Amino acid sequence: MKIDKYKNKKGYYLELLQDIQGRKNYIPVSLLKKICKQLDIPESKIFGVLTFYSQFTTEKRGKYLVKLCDGTACHVKGAREVKRILERKYGLTNGKTTADGRFTLQEVACLGSCFLAPVMMINQQYFGNLTPEKALSIFKNLK
Ligand code: FES
Repeated sequence: MKIDKYKNKKGYYLELLQDIQGRKNYIPVSLLKKICKQLDIPESKIFGVLTFYSQFTTEKRGKYLVKLCDGTACHVKGAREVKRILERKYGLTNGKTTADGRFTLQEVACLGSCFLAPVMMINQQYFGNLTPEKALSIFKNLK
């Protein structure tokens, strides 16, 4: 990662954090500390920004962040069955990343798309009206 572009730049902490997370899918603490040294910035400042924004995580994430909704509308329309088939076929467990580093599952309370229930989001894309078969098909088509 080239960090020279951040030298002598002002107010770049957010951009830097987005850059790291965009490349790694999470922000490794050791890498961030190394960058702080290279850019000669206090760790406390950048960690302050990191912890302020919920979009950032220091937990390792898979290539695909799967947010599976289990809010009321999705639960009633079969989110549990979707979760069960993904657990069985791909070994997904809430809050965990699969051993192959492909998937991280996060169960969420609502994705704000209840009219599409049951819903999941993979990285930035929404998938609605899920059935276990449809979910498997979506996963199969991921590169
Ligand atoms: S309850 Fe699932 S999107 Fe709202």
